[in-house]
Amino acid sequence: HRHLLGLAGLAPHELLFLLDEAEQWVELNRQPEKRVSVLRGLTIINAFFENSTRTLLSFELAGKRLGADVVNMSVATSSVKKGETLIDTALTLNAMRADAMVIRHGSSGAVRLIADKVDCPVLNAGDGQHEHPTQGLLDALTIRRALRNRGRTEFNGLKVTICGDILHSRVARSNIHCLTTLGADVRVCAPPALMPEGIEQLKVTAFHDFVAALEGAEVVMMLRLQNERMQGSFIPSPREYRHLYGLTLERLRHAAPDALIMHPGPMNRGVEIDSNVADLPKRSLITTQVEMGVAMRMTCLEVLTRKARGMPGWNGDAWA
Ligand code: CP
Repeated sequence: HRHLLGLAGLAPHELLFLLDEAEQWVELNRQPEKRVSVLRGLTIINAFFENSTRTLLSFELAGKRLGADVVNMSVATSSVKKGETLIDTALTLNAMRADAMVIRHGSSGAVRLIADKVDCPVLNAGDGQHEHPTQGLLDALTIRRALRNRGRTEFNGLKVTICGDILHSRVARSNIHCLTTLGADVRVCAPPALMPEGIEQLKVTAFHDFVAALEGAEVVMMLRLQNERMQGSFIPSPREYRHLYGLTLERLRHAAPDALIMHPGPMNRGVEIDSNVADLPKRSLITTQVEMGVAMRMTCLEVLTRKARGMPGWNGDAWA
């Protein structure tokens, strides 16, 4: 694996390897002195063609905490605005001899197009409705640590309900690939118009009734409506959406008694999730997800640049 474009196809031992590697960076990030020199001398370019708060900042912090030089291409003030194509932009960044590129793009498959043209590892920071692999990994890391605090070590049979705009969600897809590969029992819930056809092929159970999807769930992951990808066909009003699919305290009672609450952000409070659920002490993992995001992105940058640093490349078999 030269690049990290998605979690589909990664084996359980590869996913677990990345989760294990992340633990050291969680610990480092909790120290007053957070910088090491593992990636000293390397150049990382972040190119985000879509907006981001969490992913962009955490990749930037991750690279800097590992000692790399990190530059962010500001698409809004770049020559993309003068009509430069995606491929020419990628070739330009490549000619600057980046050692890794982190790309977010609004079109599914755009990050792979870039990966095929450049000499360095490419990390997908979210492409259209395809995948957001570091989000899937950071969510798995968050879940595993929360389970360990409760004395449970296995994903096997863990009941996870993912509810929201599944159709447009790259977060849902990466989480489905990751969690089903690790043995979790994943349910997805969405209005019929926001449920992809054939989703059962991804080894999940599909629901349109939120209460039925919540019964006994040990982890409840809420997703926002991605209005920017809906092109007018079906945009429910926030009020009608909350009425059927909002996670309220009352609905949460259908889940397991101490069910964990997750949301990748950005949240629309009072739409897909109520504030008194999002802020539940001990049970809401939403800010922990952000913390794990930095550690997971440090892991991915460190592992994918191993070859550039004269170490065996990122190939899961090397750590089997
Ligand atoms: N979860 C996530 O990808 O958030 P951002 O869009 O803010 O990066």
